[in-house]
Order: sequence, then C-alpha cells, then structure tokens
Amino acid sequence: MQRALAFDRSPALSVAFRFFLNVPAFLMLSAVVLAWLGLSDTAYTRWNPAVLAVAHFLTLGVLASAMLGAMMQILPVATHIHVLQPRITSPVVHACLTLGTLALATGFITVNPTLHVVAVILLAAAFTFFICAVTGGLIRDRHQRSPGSGEILVAVRLALLALAITVGLGLFMAGLRGGLWSVGATQAGAWLHGLPDLHVTWGLAGWVGLLVAGISYQVIPIFQATEIYPRLMTDTLAPLVFLLLAVLTLSGAWQASPSLDATLPQLAAASGLALAYLIYAVTTGYLLWTRKRPAPEPTTWFWHAGMVSLLLASLLGATRVWLPTLAPSTMEMLLGTLLIAGFAVSAVNGMLYKIIPFLLWHNAQRRAPMALPFIPKVRQFISERDALRQFVAHACAVVLFAAACMVPILLLPAALALAVSAALLSINIARALRLYLNTCQRIARTLAQLPQATAATRPGAQ
Ligand code: HEM
Repeated sequence: MQRALAFDRSPALSVAFRFFLNVPAFLMLSAVVLAWLGLSDTAYTRWNPAVLAVAHFLTLGVLASAMLGAMMQILPVATHIHVLQPRITSPVVHACLTLGTLALATGFITVNPTLHVVAVILLAAAFTFFICAVTGGLIRDRHQRSPGSGEILVAVRLALLALAITVGLGLFMAGLRGGLWSVGATQAGAWLHGLPDLHVTWGLAGWVGLLVAGISYQVIPIFQATEIYPRLMTDTLAPLVFLLLAVLTLSGAWQASPSLDATLPQLAAASGLALAYLIYAVTTGYLLWTRKRPAPEPTTWFWHAGMVSLLLASLLGATRVWLPTLAPSTMEMLLGTLLIAGFAVSAVNGMLYKIIPFLLWHNAQRRAPMALPFIPKVRQFISERDALRQFVAHACAVVLFAAACMVPILLLPAALALAVSAALLSINIARALRLYLNTCQRIARTLAQLPQATAATRPGAQ
C-alpha cells in the first residue's frame, strides 16, 4: 500500500548527513588501495589483504554508513518510529564506525594484530549502540507506527538481525586475528575455515539484500513513479530469505566451499536464495521499465545497474552451487564484485541522489517561516547532468572491476574509473551543501531584516 511520508518527523539534518559524507570518502580510499594493488604484482584474489581491506571500505565505510544514516532518516518519516536519542547516537556511531573501519582495513594490509583489537572495540561499540538505539525505538514507538508500514518494518527487522549475525561473526574473526581469543587446535576444523563464507553470506544476502529490498518497497514507487510492489513479494521475500539463510547455516553448508557432495537441504537453500533475489531483481526491473515517467533520471539508471548486477549475481550464484568446480576463485571474485559494487553500491549511490537534495531543500524550508522565492527547488541542489556524469564513471568502474576478475590487468583502469566516480560524487555533494549553506545565510539575513513577530522560524528548524 502506498503511504504518505511524514516529513515533519524528519530528524535534524546532521543526524543522517554525516553518514552520507562517508560514501565518497571510502569510495576514494577503495580506489587508492585497488590502484596500489593493480600496480603491485600480488594476486587479485579474495584473500589478498588489500582485497579484504577494500571489501570493508565498501561494506562498512560505504554501505553500512549510508544505510545506518538512511535508516535514521527514513524510519521516523516512513514508519513514525524514532531511533533513540538521535543527536547522541548519530555522532557516536559515526565516529566508531568510521575509525573502526579504518583500523580493520589497515589491520588487514599491515597484518597488525593491535589494529584488529582496536577495530573489534570500535566496531562492536558502533553496531551495539546503533542496534540498541533502533531496537529501543521499535519497542518504545510500536504503538505509534504508521498504518501500512508493516512490510518495510519486517524487512528492516530481519535485515538488522542479519547485520547482528554478520557483525558477530566478523568480530569473532577479527578477534582471532588480533589474538583476543583463539581456537584450540582440537576445536579448529572445517567450521573455522568456512566462517568467512558464512560471514559474507549473512552480510550480503541477509543484511544488504534485505535492507535494499525493504527500503525499495517504499522509495521506488514514490520516487520513481512506478506501480507498487506485488503484495506477495513484500509479504514473503524477507522472511523467506531469512529462513533460507538459517537453513544454510544450520545445515553447515558454509563449512565446506560448494562441493559435489553438498546435501539436498544445502543445494535447495542456496538455489532458493539465488531464485528469490532473481525474482526480486526482475520484478524491480519490470516496475522501473513500466514506470509512469518514461524518461529515466540518473537515480533510475543506478537502480537499473543495481538490478542487472543482482540478476547476473543470482545466475552466477546458482551456477556456483550446481557447478562448484567451475573456475571457483574467479566466480567468487565476480560474485563479490557484482553484489557489492554492482548491486549494493549502485542502489545506495542512486538513493543518495534522491535523499540528499530532498533533505537540504526540506531543512532550508524549515528555516523560513514564510515562502522565500530564493530557496532553491529540490532538483537545483544537484543537476541531472552532474549526477548522470557520475553514473557513467560508476558504471565504467563496475564493468571494469567485473572484467578484472577474469583479466586482472584491468584492475588499474577500474580503480581509476572508481576514483573519478568518487571525485564526481564528492563534488556533487559539496556543491549541494554549499548551496544549502548559502541559502541558510540568505534566510538568516532576510529574517534579520523582518519585524520580530514575522521572523519566528518554523518548528523543527535547527
Ligand atoms: C563489525 C564488522 C565486521 C568485522 C569486524 C569483519 C571482519 C572480517 C574479517 C576478520 C574477515 C576475514 C576473514 C578471515 O579471517 O579470513 C572478513 C572477511 C570479509 N568480510 Fe567482514 N567484517 C565485518 C563486517 C562485514 C560486513 C557488514 C560485510 C558485508 C556486508 C563484510 C564482508 C566481508 C567480506 C566480503 C569478506 C571477505 C571474505 C571472503 O572473501 O570470504 N564484513 N571480515
């Protein structure tokens, strides 16, 4: 059911915005490390320390930052559920997440156990604080949640649970690398060897996949003028994916990389996951293709790129389950590249071009007690041409990174394309922020010239 968004419940601008500023910064850091890797002669495989570092620059620095910020913004507006103490939660979680990600990634590259210990402390603090603040809000405001917000809340709750499992596994593995705890020789076994697989599966198919799907049920119909998602999908996709992940975990599928003797529950669960996301990608692609406003905007292209990547990743995932010996290491890198850079980063990058201009416009409006002609329109904060230019650089980077999984010499041009994309995104956000700050100054000057009674600002202005 299509719902109205309660923008008057929007938290202060800085609550979400500081997280969004992490996106171009960590994209650029990823480009620098991958360019360095491209110039070095070490193998471009999933276990290369630089690849592990970039995997977390992207999953924590870009995706977690954007999604935690977006959740603090979208939850109150779309479901009337407020995160506890947003003005304290936001800076604390942001600082711990940013510094924790830098420590974890540097720990991988320098193989320095102390940095892994610092990462464990900071990342544990960041995610515990965030998950408690959201869960507290979900419980406190459960009676005031907006009608029809059930479908987004089911996906958000399950995504949060998947995040907790991913983070728990990640902290355990980082603690092992930091020497905080160890696994006696007798206890070590296939389970330990397979933990990274389980960690990644819950991280990408659980948290990232479910959160993007859950938020898309809201933002695609509203911002892309499409039909709403089929009720059958919004009611069943998230619980089904979570159930399949639980079957994969409990059936021990992750203990041995896909093997010819995988059991039926393991094969069924893994194929079911690939099929579920294939159906979601095709449905979203169809909704975007038949949307009421035919001319695609830059955000539409980002969603298209995300859905094509997810569709290819689902087919690749299914192939990997049934043909596990077919080029395993190339398949793993390609799957990670399509899911992280192709699907998740595209969806997040696209959503930023809707959320950021709207947030700046909304907060400028909140500062003026009356309509002021010089307040820019939403679309004037970031022009379509600038957003499209960045999309082209992003798409080139994704295609080159996918090709680099087969032809590693393409890693350097891919890293350069990513650097251009990150630079263009930073310029677009910086220009929008400058326009907002200039507008705020003009509003303040205008109000200063008005008689006191007329100048009272609108509620919620900060
Ligand atoms: C608190 C947060 C996290 C910590 C401390 C953490 C820690 C780790 C560690 C230590 C490894 C290396 C495993 C090994 O020892 O071989 C790893 C691998 C990995 N992690 Fe995380 N991680 C975290 C969050 C995430 C999230 C949220 C995602 C994705 C959504 C993610 C994706 C990955 C990927 C893709 C790998 C590469 C392993 C592979 O190729 O299988 N991590 N993580």
